[in-house]
Amino acid sequence: MSRKDTDFFQSIRRSVKLSYIISSLLPLLILIYVLHQFVFPKVGYEVAQDIQIYLILVVIISVLGLFFLLRETNKSISSAETLQSKLNSLIGITKQFRETLYVDILLESIVKSAMHLNSAESGSLLLYDDAGDLRFKVLVGDRGQKIKDHAVKRGEGITGWVAEKGEAAIINDTSKDKRFNAQFDKESGYRTRSIMCVPLVHSNEVIGVIEVLNKRNGSFSEEDQRLLYSLADQASISIAQSRSFESRHSDLIHITELLVSAQDFHTPEKRGHARRTASYANMIAKEVGLSEGELKVLYYAGLFHDIGLLKVSVHERTQKEKIKQHPQLGYDMTNPVSIWKDASELILNHHERYDGAGYPAGKNGNDIPVGAKILSVASTFDVLTSTYSYKEKIDYRRAINEIETYSGKQFDPEIVKAFKTAIQNSDLIDD
Ligand SMILES: [Fe+2]
Repeated sequence: MSRKDTDFFQSIRRSVKLSYIISSLLPLLILIYVLHQFVFPKVGYEVAQDIQIYLILVVIISVLGLFFLLRETNKSISSAETLQSKLNSLIGITKQFRETLYVDILLESIVKSAMHLNSAESGSLLLYDDAGDLRFKVLVGDRGQKIKDHAVKRGEGITGWVAEKGEAAIINDTSKDKRFNAQFDKESGYRTRSIMCVPLVHSNEVIGVIEVLNKRNGSFSEEDQRLLYSLADQASISIAQSRSFESRHSDLIHITELLVSAQDFHTPEKRGHARRTASYANMIAKEVGLSEGELKVLYYAGLFHDIGLLKVSVHERTQKEKIKQHPQLGYDMTNPVSIWKDASELILNHHERYDGAGYPAGKNGNDIPVGAKILSVASTFDVLTSTYSYKEKIDYRRAINEIETYSGKQFDPEIVKAFKTAIQNSDLIDD
């Protein structure tokens, strides 16, 4: 929440407190004064004593009343404050949507925003495919990727129901709702306690659904649902725009998708790494202030930074020297393709270090292209915060600290600074 908003709510609190005190305690004090000055001297000691006892009772009741009134008012102001803060986030988020052209980055950002706004543990977004089934496009949180390839039929489970009816659903106890399909929980090992799901509608047609699972504190409310609806409205427009942008680049998109899938297949232990690196690099680059053209080059470099590993066989992966060839191999693969020529330079340099101790050329400082320095931070951040078959993940805050430790050594301090701001301003980290 902005400073202006905080000041506004503080001033409301102060005025309410003051007006309550004036309206309830001031008349009482005047009454006590009048009684002491004019009434008690005339009525005699015994009557005055009785009146005083009543007065003390009235004062106690007034103070208690004032206390409860203030408490209730504070609660209402706090909810208004939370709502204001969420609306502010929503405005920021929708602006971010408008600026994101690539569907995969956009969809992930939509789900993360929905989780952040509703304090949910996990979330997902499904879109209809050509066969009329809902397909998971993004899964964020501990639900894992095991169910990602599953299709949801029309009307099946909560998501299928929402998509078919075009209506939202809030289920705060899944065990009591017949529509809930426990199959996905069985397969993923995740326990879904509560769900809020709304349809994504564009041109009066349901194109998919967005759902958030397991509210961290309490239950999903009507207010949460209204916020998710607003987000879904903006998201649907942005998805349609991105799709139209991408359909104009259809062949390129298919080839890119093919190569990213090939990387996921070749190194399944790092599945999703390329997409996430591209997404983090995009966030950092925007903070650094790169142009739209540079963002595009960096996006492809993010997706293909490790593509050279496709030429390192499973048996060779234990040989350090062979692994170290992947930036050069990646460069050789992408450089001849005119649209990826600029990206190939970043791919070649993504393992160079700021202090000159990297590879393949041992370049240092400003001899390394900015995009490559961004990729280096983005890729490391993803490795630290993802669970791979060979390692556990660490949380986002620890990962930021870890990267800061290597600022000026492995990473350019300026890029680390931009990275920290970008991640802290994103929905990855709760306020
Ligand atoms: Fe690499």
